[in-house]
Amino acid sequence: LDNGLALKPTMGWLHWERFMCNIDCNTDPNNCISENLYMQMADVMVSAGWKEVGYEYVCIDDCWPSHQRDDKGRLQADPKRFPRGIKKLADYVHSKGLKLGIYADLGTETCGGFPGSLGYYDIDAQTFADWGVDLLKFDGCYMKLTLLGEGYTNMSIALNKTGRGIVYSCEWPLYEWPLHQPDYSAIRKACNHWRNSEDVFDSWNSVKTILEWTADHQDIIVPVAGPGGWNDPDMLVIGNFGLSHDQQESQMALWAIMAAPLLMSNDLRDICPRSKELLQNKRIIAINQDPIGKQGYRTAKVNNFEVWEKPLSGGRLALAVMNKYEIGGPRGFPVTLATLPSWKICTPQCNVTQVLPSYKELGVQTLFTKLIVAINPSGTALLTVTPIKGDNNIQWQLWNDR
Ligand code: DGJ
Repeated sequence: LDNGLALKPTMGWLHWERFMCNIDCNTDPNNCISENLYMQMADVMVSAGWKEVGYEYVCIDDCWPSHQRDDKGRLQADPKRFPRGIKKLADYVHSKGLKLGIYADLGTETCGGFPGSLGYYDIDAQTFADWGVDLLKFDGCYMKLTLLGEGYTNMSIALNKTGRGIVYSCEWPLYEWPLHQPDYSAIRKACNHWRNSEDVFDSWNSVKTILEWTADHQDIIVPVAGPGGWNDPDMLVIGNFGLSHDQQESQMALWAIMAAPLLMSNDLRDICPRSKELLQNKRIIAINQDPIGKQGYRTAKVNNFEVWEKPLSGGRLALAVMNKYEIGGPRGFPVTLATLPSWKICTPQCNVTQVLPSYKELGVQTLFTKLIVAINPSGTALLTVTPIKGDNNIQWQLWNDR
């Protein structure tokens, strides 16, 4: 969507996977969907270095509204859980230098059974703008499938009419796939990012399923991604309960390669230091946020390894090698630059840096050197490959000497 926003993949925090539809503030006041949760996340985002590395949006998902609209037809937040209302919450989040995201649904009800926006797109868009909301996640439950395109486009127009810059996060293709192949150029015109595949869960199986879906559909979805519009493989679940540390590294590496929005769904108030360090790794974030905004893709499946690459600015490349064996110990994978589809960048040679599993300079490599990287089961090695410009004759010499 050409609204000047999301020129890089959106970074922030979104409540859904970790906190779901927990509205029981009597027995679980610390974790229920209430203004306290977002205020506390905003506080930590600033105090614990999240904002500094780029995480900016604090996002509300389903289950925030009251079951009744007000007498002017406007949505209102549940008064018990959000006693000060969303505008005050937005002011608070803004006072921290952060942005606030909210959630609504284009059908008659949200997936969680709260009021939907059908028939109220203009009113709701204006309400969100008046409150100072900076992002809208627009879900697609309880809507006729044949009307998805019209609905998502109309809400995009309604948001634009408010004059406020609101990042528009859609679930249009996810709901449309069962019907037919979505029109991705229409989706890109209307939305800043869009969910394609099923909801992420806190498990390695879920992360693998999403990666498999993405690779299977990469010819359709990769070309549409770029500044202003991104494929959204759903939230990062790093820092929760279901992924081993190697699996967390795999999610982080591959979400960076996919130029995915980095929306964490975890408890930033209580997160293990290793997960925090991974989520705040500036080298990985830089791969995700690279200004040319090219989404990466899978280039090979070799035995139980997958190789993915992402073009970066300055003619560089990010390379991820995922070890999909779930048995045994670390396995060596031979990275031969000559087998990369983009090997041409390494004429005559490239500088290779390992970003994951640990930072390491791997030095100057040519097409004929063989690098062995060791990768743990269900872990990923993430490398950057930087061309060293030079005399092309060296390349021919190497070729002859080989
Ligand atoms: C379905 C979406 O795909 C999820 O991300 C979440 O927003 C839930 N609905 C909320 O009900």
